[in-house]
Amino acid sequence: MNNSWWLKLQERLWGMAPWDAERISDEWFRAHFDYAANVVHQWMGSALDMRTARLLNFGCGDGITDLSLVLRHGATAIHGIDIRREYTKLPRIAREQLGMRRIPAALTFETIAPGARLSDRHSGIDGIMSWSTFEHVQRDQLLPILQDLHACLRPGGVFFLQIEPLFHSPYGSHLRRYDEVPWHHLLVPEEVLWSTIEAHEGPINAEEVDFGFADFGVDGYKRFVFKEYQQLNRLTADELVDLVRQAGFVVEQQERRSVDLLPPQQLLVQYSESVLRNNEIFLLLRKGA
Ligand SMILES: C[S@@+](CC[C@H](N)C(=O)[O-])C[C@H]1O[C@@H](n2cnc3c(N)ncnc32)[C@H](O)[C@@H]1O
Repeated sequence: MNNSWWLKLQERLWGMAPWDAERISDEWFRAHFDYAANVVHQWMGSALDMRTARLLNFGCGDGITDLSLVLRHGATAIHGIDIRREYTKLPRIAREQLGMRRIPAALTFETIAPGARLSDRHSGIDGIMSWSTFEHVQRDQLLPILQDLHACLRPGGVFFLQIEPLFHSPYGSHLRRYDEVPWHHLLVPEEVLWSTIEAHEGPINAEEVDFGFADFGVDGYKRFVFKEYQQLNRLTADELVDLVRQAGFVVEQQERRSVDLLPPQQLLVQYSESVLRNNEIFLLLRKGA
C-alpha cells in the first residue's frame, strides 16, 4: 500500500478523516490501539519528538499500532515493514472499528522478503520500533537485520524493541490461546503439543484473535499458529542484548519482566530460573552520534 498522492491530496483538502474510538468492538484492535501504542509512545516519546520524527515499524503486522500512534500520539510519518501483507486490511479495519473512511497519509507500508536489505532505501531515520517481532526472525538473519536497521538510523537515532512472550517463559510457545499449561512446550514432545492444540474446542481469548483468523478458519488458524511456534528462534533476553550490541547499538534503557510462577523442577535442571520466568523484554537502543 503506497502513500498515494491522492490520499495526501484528500487529506490536504479535507483534513484527516474523522474517527471515533467509542466504536471499537474488537479486543485485538483495542489491545494494539490502546495498550501497544501507549507503551511504544511512552518509550519512543521519551527519546524523540513523535510529531516530527521519521519512523519505521519493523514487523508492523496489520498496522493498528501505527494508526494509533498517528491518531492518538501525533506521529506524522510511519513506514510499516513486514514480510506479510496484513496491513492491506487496515483501511477496512479502520472503517469497521473507528468509522474512519481513509487511513492517514502519514502511514505507508511495504512488504519485504525475509532479511531483505532496507538501508539502501531507508536512511536518516529518526526512530525504529518493533513489537513482538524479533522472536519470529530466523536466527541466522538476526544479526544482519539488526546491523541493517542500525544503518537505517541517523546518528543519535533510536530503536525501541519489545518481545513478549519470550520462548522459555510459561507461554513462550505463543500457543496460550489453545493451551493454558505453563511451560508445556518445554515439557512434552511436539506431537503431544500439537494434539492438545488440535483437540481444542470452543472460543479463544478475543485479545489473541488477529484479523488473519477469518482467512484461515478454525483448523487452518491452528495449523498457522503451530507452524509459527515451530519457527520461533528461541532467543533469550541475554542473547538479544548481546546481538544488539554486536550490531552497534548502545543499550540506553532496558526492562525485563518476569512471571510470578515457579517453574517445574525438571526444567530447572536444564534452564536457569530467571530464563524460565522472564516473559518480556523492552529495549531502548541508540545509534551513537
Ligand atoms: C506477532 S506479529 C506482530 C505484528 C505487530 N507488530 C503487532 O504487534 O501486531 C510478528 C510480525 O513479524 C513479522 N515478521 C516476521 N519475520 C519478519 C522479518 N524477517 N522481517 C519483517 N517482519 C517479520 C510477521 O510477518 C508478523 O507480522
